[in-house]
This record gives sequence, C-alpha cells and structure tokens, in this order.
Amino acid sequence: MPEFTLAYERYTNDDALTPADRHLLQKARETTRKAYAPYSFFQVGAAILLQNGQVICGANQENASFPAGICAERVALSAASALYPGIIIQALAVSYLPVSKETGMPLSEKANHPISPCGICRQSLLEYEQRQDHPIRIILGGMRGEIIVIPTATSLLPFSFSAKDLAAE
Ligand code: THU
Repeated sequence: MPEFTLAYERYTNDDALTPADRHLLQKARETTRKAYAPYSFFQVGAAILLQNGQVICGANQENASFPAGICAERVALSAASALYPGIIIQALAVSYLPVSKETGMPLSEKANHPISPCGICRQSLLEYEQRQDHPIRIILGGMRGEIIVIPTATSLLPFSFSAKDLAAE
C-alpha cells in the first residue's frame, strides 16, 4: 500500500536550534503581543524570513464576525508578499501565548508545546511554496519546550488541491 512519510526535526528546547531558527522563533514569540484576540484569548505570532534577510511578522487578527478573523501565518504571508513581492520566503516560525480571560495577563506556562498551522493556512502556505518553487522551512514552538521543524509546507498537506488542478485539461 502507498504511504506518506513526513520527515521533521524535533528538539526538546531552543538550545539545539540553529541561530537563524532560534532568532526567527524568538521574533514569532515577541509578535504574539501584537495579536488582536479578544474572543479566543489565544495570541499567535508568526515570523517570516525572506531571502533578502528581512523578517516580516504577523499576529492573528480576530473579528466579532468570527470567520472574518485571520491567522497569524496568513497575516505574515500577506504582509511579506505585499511588502516584498517576488522575494523568496525561506522560513516561517510560529508561536503563541494564551492570555487569561479574567485579567488579560499572559499564561506563558501554558505555551509549552508547539502548535501547528490550521488547514486554511496550510493551503495558503502550499501555494506560496509552489509559486516560488522553493521550500518554506516551518519552525513551530511555544514560549518554551519542544520545537518541531518541518522542511516544507507542502508536506503538511498531502493530497492537496492546487493551481495545478485548476489548470488541468
Ligand atoms: N490561530 C492562528 O493564528 N494560527 C494558528 O496556527 C492556529 C490558530 C488563531 C486563530 C484564532 O484567532 C485563534 O488562534 C484561535 O483559534
């Protein structure tokens, strides 16, 4: 039977990361503070490293009409693409920080494991990766603890629907 395999890296903490990955994850962590998440109390930060060395960040932006909210990953992707169209996205780091519903204070002790992009973000990442024909390295971690590094966005979405299908005759 055919099978998918997903090769990824797993680290118990920041120490074993490359300096570049650690720096990008730190930017994602800092960016959680820029979230607008008054409904979920779940602040997410994403940081993108472009091939020109620029780091572009984004945080989730919610809305009273819940589906109108946008995840941190797509905020960062849109910002990077608008500010630097055509510049290759090398890596994307994601972190998060739940906050207390009562006090609004950060609950950093709860952010001790990685979170992974949602299905819509995976679809979006896939298309950016295919357009640029260059892998996007994905670094996932909380405020502390385990970190997962996935070498390509496409590997997160097996049997994906893409522009190639639309173009098929
Ligand atoms: N969220 C993100 O921004 N990125 C993820 O990877 C997971 C979820 C946001 C969406 C929503 O604003 C909140 O987290 C709770 O789902």
